Amino acid sequence: MRIGILGSGLMGGKLGTIWARAGHDVVFSYARTPHKRERLARAAKGNARAGTPAEAAQHGAALLLAVHWSRVDDVLSQAGDLSGKVIISCSLPMNADDTDLVIAHTSSGAEELAKKIPTARIVSAFSTVPSEVLFPVFESRRKKKRPNVVYCGDDVRSKKVAAALIRDAGFDPVDAGPLRIARSIEAFTLLIGQLAYERPGGPELAYRFERF
Ligand SMILES: NC(=O)c1ccc[n+]([C@@H]2O[C@H](COP(=O)([O-])OP(=O)(O)OC[C@H]3O[C@@H](n4cnc5c(N)ncnc54)[C@H](OP(=O)(O)O)[C@@H]3O)[C@@H](O)[C@H]2O)c1
Repeated sequence: MRIGILGSGLMGGKLGTIWARAGHDVVFSYARTPHKRERLARAAKGNARAGTPAEAAQHGAALLLAVHWSRVDDVLSQAGDLSGKVIISCSLPMNADDTDLVIAHTSSGAEELAKKIPTARIVSAFSTVPSEVLFPVFESRRKKKRPNVVYCGDDVRSKKVAAALIRDAGFDPVDAGPLRIARSIEAFTLLIGQLAYERPGGPELAYRFERF
């Protein structure tokens, strides 16, 4: 595939490299220095080159949007016409200091993006909290016998699954409330991040229960 990377940081750099090495044709764009984009393209060793957001957009049938939410408008305006493109977004709709969502819990970043670029096809993917956030939690809880499970949802059958896990695996349950908050993946991601930041008080495992 021809893939344009809009945001060549941690996510864009890694995913672009993986895709280039897998044989896809990748253009790295949007980093603060051209030097960084060129270094990434060289190190990817596959079909990769550096370019501007407009070049990445023109080149790619699919585009990875991997910038902080506060940079989304800027990178989109530099990218130009995105009609008909598949935009894979991992940008979480967070405020500048990453402490809260900038959307209501009933909406999603993908929904907001679709309003900004209605002629593109938006896919929300990779929108997890950075896994480093969770490492100290695993570390501090290593000796604990009963892991926590955080769950949310109000679907009866799903609650039965949660109940079985709590009973059979011996989880300490943390009920995070009704499904409303979990319907948008970003809100759930934030919830996990916030709980994890509580360190020893945070959960090791988080499940999102919906209808199976
Ligand atoms: N990191 C993760 O594990 C992770 C996981 C899931 C989702 N996410 C989400 O993915 C999105 C991107 O995260 P990330 O960790 O990849 O961020 P990042 O490393 O900060 O990457 C953002 C990219 O945008 C570039 N940039 C920022 N301001 C710019 C400007 N004014 N002009 C030109 N380029 C600019 C940065 O340039 P420089 O390279 O020069 O800094 C960098 O290449 C965020 O919304 C984040 O929440 C991240």
